[in-house]
Amino acid sequence: MNLSQTLSALFLGLAGAHAASNTAAPLVSSPGDISIIPGWSLQSSTRAPDDMPGLSQPGVDVSSWHRVGPRGTVMAGLLQAGVFNDTELFYSDNLNQLASETTFRSPWLYREDFTLNPSDNQYFVLHTHGITSKADIYVNGERIVTSDDQQGSYGGHKYNLTDYVKDGTNSLLIRAYPTNYLRDFALGFVDWNPYPSDNGTGVWRNVEISQTGPVSMSPFRVITDLTKPDQNQKVNITLKTDLVNHAQKTVQVSVNGAITPPPGSKVGPILRSFELKPGESRTVSIKVGVENASVWWPARWGAQSLYTVQANLLLHDTSMTVSDKTRAQEFGIRQVSSYVNEHNDTAFVVNGQQFQVMGAGYGPDMFMRFDERRVERIFRYMLDMGLNTVRLEGKQEQPELYELADRMGMMVLAGWECCDKWEGWDVSPITFSHHLTELTESQYNDDAQGVKWGESDYPIAQAAMLHEAEMMQAHPSMLGFLVGSDYWPNDRATEVYLDALKDMDWKNPIIASASKRGYPKALGPSGMKMDGPYDWVPPNYWYGDQEGAAFGFGSELGAGVGTPEMGSLKKFMSDGDLETLWKEPDAKLFHMSRYDSQFFDRSIYNKALFERYGKAQDLEDYVLKCQMADYEATRAQYEAYSAKQNASRPATGSIYWMLNSAWPNLHWQLFDYYLSPMGAYFGTKVGNRLEHAAYDYEKKSVSLINHSLDLKGDREISIDLIDANGKKISGTKVKTTTMPNSSKDVQEVSGIDKIKDIAFLRLVLRDTKAKRDVSRNVYWLSPKADVLDWDESTWYNTPVTDYADYKKLQNLPSADVTATVQTVKAKTKDGWTYADVQLENKSKVPAVFLRLNAINLDGAEVTPVFWSDNYLTLWPNEKLRVSVGFEGDIKQTVIEVSGRNVKKQSLKSPK
Ligand SMILES: *[C@@H]1O[C@H](CO)[C@@H](O)[C@H](O)[C@H]1NC(C)=O
Ligand SMILES: *[C@@H]1O[C@H](CO)[C@@H](O)[C@H](O)[C@H]1NC(C)=O
Ligand SMILES: *[C@@H]1O[C@H](CO)[C@@H](O)[C@H](O)[C@H]1NC(C)=O
Ligand SMILES: *[C@@H]1O[C@H](CO)[C@@H](O)[C@H](O)[C@H]1NC(C)=O
Ligand SMILES: *[C@@H]1O[C@H](CO)[C@@H](O)[C@H](O)[C@H]1NC(C)=O
Ligand SMILES: *[C@@H]1O[C@H](CO)[C@@H](O)[C@H](O)[C@H]1NC(C)=O
Ligand SMILES: *[C@@H]1O[C@H](CO)[C@@H](O)[C@H](O)[C@H]1NC(C)=O
Ligand SMILES: *[C@@H]1O[C@H](CO)[C@@H](O)[C@H](O)[C@H]1NC(C)=O
Repeated sequence: MNLSQTLSALFLGLAGAHAASNTAAPLVSSPGDISIIPGWSLQSSTRAPDDMPGLSQPGVDVSSWHRVGPRGTVMAGLLQAGVFNDTELFYSDNLNQLASETTFRSPWLYREDFTLNPSDNQYFVLHTHGITSKADIYVNGERIVTSDDQQGSYGGHKYNLTDYVKDGTNSLLIRAYPTNYLRDFALGFVDWNPYPSDNGTGVWRNVEISQTGPVSMSPFRVITDLTKPDQNQKVNITLKTDLVNHAQKTVQVSVNGAITPPPGSKVGPILRSFELKPGESRTVSIKVGVENASVWWPARWGAQSLYTVQANLLLHDTSMTVSDKTRAQEFGIRQVSSYVNEHNDTAFVVNGQQFQVMGAGYGPDMFMRFDERRVERIFRYMLDMGLNTVRLEGKQEQPELYELADRMGMMVLAGWECCDKWEGWDVSPITFSHHLTELTESQYNDDAQGVKWGESDYPIAQAAMLHEAEMMQAHPSMLGFLVGSDYWPNDRATEVYLDALKDMDWKNPIIASASKRGYPKALGPSGMKMDGPYDWVPPNYWYGDQEGAAFGFGSELGAGVGTPEMGSLKKFMSDGDLETLWKEPDAKLFHMSRYDSQFFDRSIYNKALFERYGKAQDLEDYVLKCQMADYEATRAQYEAYSAKQNASRPATGSIYWMLNSAWPNLHWQLFDYYLSPMGAYFGTKVGNRLEHAAYDYEKKSVSLINHSLDLKGDREISIDLIDANGKKISGTKVKTTTMPNSSKDVQEVSGIDKIKDIAFLRLVLRDTKAKRDVSRNVYWLSPKADVLDWDESTWYNTPVTDYADYKKLQNLPSADVTATVQTVKAKTKDGWTYADVQLENKSKVPAVFLRLNAINLDGAEVTPVFWSDNYLTLWPNEKLRVSVGFEGDIKQTVIEVSGRNVKKQSLKSPK
């Protein structure tokens, strides 16, 4: 026996103890069935015989392989199988030590046995939805496709298995090739975080098998002709599907189905007949009228009305046999468009209303593990923070994400990613001569580093675009697709993308790139700026008129903040890491961006933090100062964009960089990996309020913000300025009225020039008719302004030459706050508890930056947790009630209250 025969004997076995037996239920059994391969045996190709035909025979013994679920990268599989443990992997710099890259330099094998009972006139198809980076696929000893064709994380294909399947046990084997982000069309992380050890290699999305009769149909593409919502209106829906006749004879078929409307709306039936010639493929359209159309709205503006369509394809034989079926599929009636305004900025319109994008950039799990419940919580957090759009930069995730977005009213801005293979378009001077003025040929996308596209790359990009467009097409949550990120595709790639989108009846905006560096003729200017910042800038930055300041559409920008609170830090940082964090402001940190990134340290952030808030005295002091700085930063960004929504050069939208992190991280997030909200979260939440009064750090005035479509009437704003001892500097009440979806400058704050060391400014917006405060907002202000050196701006930052001074916060007179918890609803059906915390400042001085934290009896933070407000500053003798909702039992929960000048207390739970 040679070595490979020995291995074969070892790994193949003969008995096939774990193979599906002939009596196992078939994976699919009737025409119209489609099933996910329910799980896999996973192994490195270095630990299996190099005999793919042999390994893909039914009955091979793979009992020693790792058992994993239906979809997952190799690392996700190894985590699931217990080879790795993410608590350990994410701790300190363990990732570098534990999961060596070398393990992932060879292909990995995914193998599964399953039962089928094929019969005459039944056809079987294998559906892939993307395998990273590419794969060979074998069925029952035969190669179905090679990695020349099954390529790319988004390469979804259908393979005809009819001639390969057999009665009884069948076997499927996928050999997934290693991934290099610069060479392959994968899902990279660029500078976000260290790369997963396997670079995301593997069967990360489901693989399915379908059975049909002689004619098959594709999922519906849905087109609606709504232009502007009106009462009781009629809308036409066009359903498109691709019919394929596998048989060698002419057949008559009917598409027979129904649309289930939301209550109050009425839809006609789906019934149309077609004749197909032998082997014919044809796209057919079916028009259906809707009465009293129920319109789908983004969360803040209305209901998420959804229609469900399902149809069967019937053969006109003697008994009208079902030949295929579609899955029940949800869609919405709504209209989305975008235009480039006279400032060359992109603006979006949803259902005829100007839609200011208040968004953030999504980070998938580092190992691409998809947990629908987690994504639902992330979207709930987004809605709680007043965000209306999630940007997916090349991380299109799983189909369930779009269903969640539809149901929750979250708009999705999808697109391809920057800086690697995806942007490796080759330069042809002819292609770019029309639009390149400043950029020379050699500058175009060279910093992207991706291996330049060759002939064979265009079909891969095309397959990816077709597949993702098909998945996204019917979802009302789609706001647009960006075919480029940092750069725009060359003309040939643009054509490939546009043709694919057209083939999939894409009716939403298509945008050339997320930057203004150039554009292909076929698409025109992108109208989106990518001018930074990505690292710390002061609040007044956003009120400037350059770079990322609040005008136009900022596709990815932020002050880089997002420091987790102590409870989370201790989960992934060792004592040594924590000491470095506060003691060495310029240190390289493994849990910042990747080692080769500009953002591997916190030097810009820490310099500003220490200059403005004072040097960290200890870890606790450092973390508290970070929370104040982070709150200040996100609030200012969102407030400025909100306040300028209808300025003379309107702020049409912004995407905070980023929403969340792929792993436990120290920055670029609004809540941390463990779903604990923090300073950055509540700054965002305040800054995005539906109706809000905000302080403009440049004009030193108050703006009135309105993001609603229907809240109008008389409002009053109370503007109060006090010093650290609670002494009044100024106090004003302003009467005003508010208009939908717009903002305006109301009045200057008086007394700013009288601030000595520090002052607190409170803005309370009141609905005078309803006698209700609609927004309350407190700032800490310095007599000294932050001074920006705009001319020295880089792609990631604008330097500051002089800093505001908040050092007085380090020695405020202490305040005495009492707090009590009242349960509002304990343990509802779904296990949630709602409680109120009544706070009262018993002192003559302000109680500054009070943090409320819910912890369980083990001292762990309760997440997810929804506080109506947090990090609050109370006026002398002020009372305030905040509410909280979380999953759990109030009796098992302790509410902690602490603050800048308030001693920490733990509140007893109510009886
Ligand atoms: C992972 O490791 C942590 C810390 O060592 C341990 O507490 C946890 O139980 C482990 N998880 C699993 C699934 O083994
Ligand atoms: C992952 O991709 C990078 C290029 O982006 C490459 O340098 C690295 O070697 C790859 N890792 C593996 C395990 O192939
Ligand atoms: C819907 O279709 C009908 C019939 O084709 C047509 O008469 C009507 O104008 C269409 N309605 C709209 C709103 O386009
Ligand atoms: C799939 O394969 C079967 C068996 O060879 C064949 O009859 C059928 O036409 C094929 N389908 C398509 C769409 O090519
Ligand atoms: C449409 O709504 C109006 C007003 O609610 C109602 O009078 C009418 O009957 C509805 N039409 C249908 C077809 O349901
Ligand atoms: C908008 O862009 C076009 C070129 O695409 C340019 O001619 C025009 O001057 C720009 N307008 C503004 C206001 O910058
Ligand atoms: C913005 O809207 C407000 C309120 O409707 C209005 O007072 C203001 O004039 C608008 N600003 C601009 C530049 O149109
Ligand atoms: C926001 O606009 C709505 C709709 O007109 C209006 O009712 C509400 O009073 C406005 N609120 C503010 C603060 O402008």
